[in-house]
Amino acid sequence: MIEKSTQCACTEEMQKYGEIRNVIDLYRDTEGSLIQILHAAQEIYGYLPLELLEIIAVSLNKPLSEITGVLSFYSFFSTKPRGKHTIRVCLGTACYVRGGKKIIEALRKTLNLEIGETTEDGKFTFEVARCIGACGLAPAMMIDGKVYKQVTPQKLTSILNAYMD
Ligand code: FES
Repeated sequence: MIEKSTQCACTEEMQKYGEIRNVIDLYRDTEGSLIQILHAAQEIYGYLPLELLEIIAVSLNKPLSEITGVLSFYSFFSTKPRGKHTIRVCLGTACYVRGGKKIIEALRKTLNLEIGETTEDGKFTFEVARCIGACGLAPAMMIDGKVYKQVTPQKLTSILNAYMD
């Protein structure tokens, strides 16, 4: 027996593409708007897959290489799906000398993840940062917008537990 589908699985994706097209239309004639468009597209879609970059390139009448060139220059753009939460461990000078690398190592082991990767369950993306403005209480890390100061490997489990919803 064939079950009746209630809604196309691609509806949500089509809506996101529609929103991105609206953003492109809004900024199309604005000089230097590519970064704004890419930001908005990443905000809406979550990341910037190749097919989306191709749509942006065609819509703006730009070569795809120009778009990918911008992406490779700015670390905040991602071409892979990102986790629900983003962990950024600071490796700026103050954090580096006060144990930032130990935090990195502990997270690699705890999450079984390398820098730049996302956990298989899609919960965390693991990145490094260069100073997040908490040098006086280094080492520091951020999860989404929240800054954690004087982090130690021992504190990591309780910090991460708050995001295990
Ligand atoms: S160097 Fe880590 S917060 Fe400034």
